[in-house]
Amino acid sequence: MKFVKLSNNDEVAQSAAELISKIDTSGTSPVVALPTGKTPLQLYKHLVQQQKAGKLALGSFTWFALDEFCGVGVPRESTFGSYLETHFILPAGLSVSSLHALDFRSTDPDAEAARYEQSIAKAGGLDLAILGIGHNGHIGFNEPGTSFASRTGSRNLAPRTREANAYLFADSDMPYDAISMGIGTIMEANRILLLATGESKAEIIHRLSETAPTTALPASALKNHPNCIVLVDEEAGARL
Ligand code: F6R
Repeated sequence: MKFVKLSNNDEVAQSAAELISKIDTSGTSPVVALPTGKTPLQLYKHLVQQQKAGKLALGSFTWFALDEFCGVGVPRESTFGSYLETHFILPAGLSVSSLHALDFRSTDPDAEAARYEQSIAKAGGLDLAILGIGHNGHIGFNEPGTSFASRTGSRNLAPRTREANAYLFADSDMPYDAISMGIGTIMEANRILLLATGESKAEIIHRLSETAPTTALPASALKNHPNCIVLVDEEAGARL
C-alpha cells in the first residue's frame, strides 16, 4: 500500500483521473468498480470534463457500482445507481448500459449478490477498483468485522455509516441494509485506488497507515494487495 499525499481535493481527483486515462483500452473493455459518496464527486467532474473534451475514451469501459442500499422503501433518487448516472454516466455522455448497479429493491439479496458476482466475472473481472473510506475504515459497505474473504452480499449498515449517509434520505427512512461487493471481490481487482479527502478522514487514514491487516479495520485488507495506492489530500493526510 502506497500513500500519496497531494495538496487538495482537486489534485486527488486529477491524479485519479490520470490513472484511469492510462488504462489500456486496446483489448477487451476495461472494467472499473466505482464508489459513491462525497469524496469522488470531484473525480467524476474531471472525468466528465475530460470525456467531453475528447481527452478520454471512456466509452469502451464497463462500470460496476461498488455497493447499494437495499430495501423496498428506498427511493430511486437516493440510490447509488442513480448517483452514478447523475454525476458521471449521463453528463459524460456514456451509455447507461455500461453501468452495472445492484438492484436496490431486491427481495432476495443473496440471489442479487450472486448475479452481480457472475456479471463481474463475465465482464472479465475488475481491472481497477476505486474506493472511498468510511470513518470506521469500511470499504464499500464492508463494515468492521467483515471477513477479508467476503464476496458480494448483503450487509448491515453500522450506526455511524447510517449517520454519514442520512443526507441522502431527507424525505424517507434511512435503510439499515445494503448489498456490497465483498472485500475478497475487491481484492481480486488488478489495481486498487483508495481516495480520502478532508479533515474528517485524517484519523482513519492515520490508523490505516499504522495498522497491520485486521478485520477490525476493513481497509487494512488492502495492505495485502500488490498494487494499491491511497491518494489523500493535505487534510486527510495531516497525520501521516
Ligand atoms: C460508497 C462507498 C463507501 C464510501 C465511504 C466514504 O459507494 O463505497 O465506502 O466510499 O463511506 O464516503 P464519503 O466519500 O461520502 O465520505
